[in-house]
Amino acid sequence: MKAIQFIFRYINYFFKAKNHHSVQSPFVFQLVTKVINKKLKEKDCIEIEQLRKELCKSEIDINITDFGAGSNINKSNKRKVKDVAKNSAKSSKFGQLLYRIIDFYNPKNILELGTSLGVSSCYLAKSNGNSNVFTLEGCPETAKIAKENFEKLGIKNINLIVGNFKDTFDETLNKMDSLDLAFIDGNHQEKATIEYFNNCLEKSNNNTIFVFDDIHWSEGMENAWKHIQNHPKTSTTIDLFFVGIVFIKSELTKEHFTIRF
Ligand SMILES: C[S@@+](CC[C@H](N)C(=O)[O-])C[C@H]1O[C@@H](n2cnc3c(N)ncnc32)[C@H](O)[C@@H]1O
Repeated sequence: MKAIQFIFRYINYFFKAKNHHSVQSPFVFQLVTKVINKKLKEKDCIEIEQLRKELCKSEIDINITDFGAGSNINKSNKRKVKDVAKNSAKSSKFGQLLYRIIDFYNPKNILELGTSLGVSSCYLAKSNGNSNVFTLEGCPETAKIAKENFEKLGIKNINLIVGNFKDTFDETLNKMDSLDLAFIDGNHQEKATIEYFNNCLEKSNNNTIFVFDDIHWSEGMENAWKHIQNHPKTSTTIDLFFVGIVFIKSELTKEHFTIRF
């Protein structure tokens, strides 16, 4: 039933989504043409794509500690790394979008909720070696592999913090000078997602960008997305179906765009 509802939500998105020709806002036009639709040079993410390929072949078993909404795909605690990589890591298409967002807007202090094997963290960190990426993960065995992956790629600008978000999130936010980009990709539950947004807002500035994963994954996540869109601090939002981007720039009008991606 959940799968059918999800398909309906995608069909709804598909017919609603527009391209840059229908966008009146200069800010969003620039975002669509220079970030969302821009092609990366192949060499930019080649090492990350190679790492992903290796992870997708790994037969190593790990014990999963799941503090979040859990997986719809595999409920057992023991999983192969290749299955975690295939089911949890953002695809190359979305990973490279994160890379381009950072390349274009240059956020210095980045927070990621949900490291998993570290694939998305690599895009976040590699785009700008001078940024500071704080990434939080609850499962120690998954986090251990993520750490090895950062070392393998020679990435030095990631701080990986292991523990339940309940214990690590506030503490990490307090440590950060400011929050310039937040990628929320863990614990896809309505109440938790709204809470993460509210807490991040306290550390945000006018240029802070939020990227929420799986905004249409469940009814709860749809409610959370609507709540975030209606929040008084939110100005412009972009719905790409599998992720939602939120801007809180006060000079932008409150407008919600559904963009084909
Ligand atoms: C979808 S995966 C992240 C994928 C990763 N961002 C990527 O694209 O490569 C979500 C991760 O969040 C972690 N997580 C979910 N809820 C959590 C919580 N409450 N505390 C700590 N970690 C949590 C899970 O263990 C899982 O590894």
